[in-house]
Amino acid sequence: MKNNDFLTLVKKRFSCRAYLEKEVTDEDIAYCLEAARNAPSSCNKQPWRYIVVKDKILKSSIAEKCLLPGLKMKWIQDAPVIIIACAQTSFVTHKLASLLSKNNYYQIDIGISGEHFVLAASSLGLATCWIGWYKERKIKRLLNIPRRVKVLSLITLGHPKCEKTSASKLSLNKISFIEKWGNNGYE
Ligand SMILES: Cc1cc2nc3c(=O)[nH]c(=O)nc-3n(C[C@H](O)[C@H](O)[C@H](O)COP(=O)(O)O)c2cc1C
Repeated sequence: MKNNDFLTLVKKRFSCRAYLEKEVTDEDIAYCLEAARNAPSSCNKQPWRYIVVKDKILKSSIAEKCLLPGLKMKWIQDAPVIIIACAQTSFVTHKLASLLSKNNYYQIDIGISGEHFVLAASSLGLATCWIGWYKERKIKRLLNIPRRVKVLSLITLGHPKCEKTSASKLSLNKISFIEKWGNNGYE
């Protein structure tokens, strides 16, 4: 892989909110899950669990009953796949470590693993969108998700119906400091 290939892939990804009716193959879904499965995690606990929802009725129920108000997101039911990114929260090591460090390790773990999934999808020419604006309790009831499992995000997946719309990103010198907070960063 050339140095630039990874950045090209990263920059290809965008939040896609319109999808073609074309099916996503199970082979492609498994490929993305394999990327997610190989993510690093705190104490190697691998707390991620993914539910793959393709059923039209379930997708409509998610769009109609499980989203928080205020954002127009009915479009999610037209995505061929909705991934429910969950975390197993019952690991004692995670809990003890979090008490001491005040870090939420399973949230970090699912963020990393989920982005592996998303970038793998981009590498296959598929598009995704992270969705955080949902009612967790309703999703859990709809999909029989156990009590000790936390739903951390939905991710829509499909073939994009539109070109990438570029969201503005902060410059390198705004997001990086050299040696100490506030020092000039990279250009
Ligand atoms: C944790 C998380 C939650 C998000 N929730 C939503 C959402 O509920 N609805 C939505 O349309 N986009 C959602 N997004 C997408 C962001 O709006 C998007 O990533 C951001 O505007 C930057 O655009 P880009 O992904 O195209 O670079 C979410 C992204 C993340 C990482």
